[in-house]
Amino acid sequence: MGKREMVIGIVALCALFFSASFIQASPDKRFDATTNTCRIFGFDTAWWGEGNKTFKQNCKSCHYRNNDKGAPFLYAESKSPRAWNRVFYKKYPACAKDGSWNIDLQQQLALNDFLYKYGADTYNAYDANDCG
Ligand code: HEC
Repeated sequence: MGKREMVIGIVALCALFFSASFIQASPDKRFDATTNTCRIFGFDTAWWGEGNKTFKQNCKSCHYRNNDKGAPFLYAESKSPRAWNRVFYKKYPACAKDGSWNIDLQQQLALNDFLYKYGADTYNAYDANDCG
């Protein structure tokens, strides 16, 4: 192997290493700061589960595309998993403070799980959690 090929090989290996460490896969658990618990995602943390139902029935009643309620369009990929955690821990949106969130703690946890799991940049077809 020539020197040039070796350099190319090393650069390619580094690129592979760095891309592998930066692309995430769908997370399978999260720490919930409201309840100080580790939430392990199961069968119910999917599009048919309580989290997505709560999202559709509550949040999406305002946060749909081109709504006339002044609410930005929201879907799971609108925020990173960590940013979603912040939304539910800090409850900083105006709609959380003015009582528009008509959800109990159980629904909040399921909703947070769902949005965290499918948040921005969580899908990686080359990871065992997402393939197949
Ligand atoms: C009654 C209508 C309504 C409902 C229901 C509602 N929201 Fe909102 N939401 C709004 C409006 C209006 C704003 C924009 C407020 C502002 O910032 O001036 C907003 C803002 C937000 C923001 C900030 C947007 C951003 O770009 O960061 C987030 C996050 C959010 N809502 C999440 C939720 C979640 C999660 C739910 C369901 C639990 C929900 N909202 C339910 C009306 C609603």
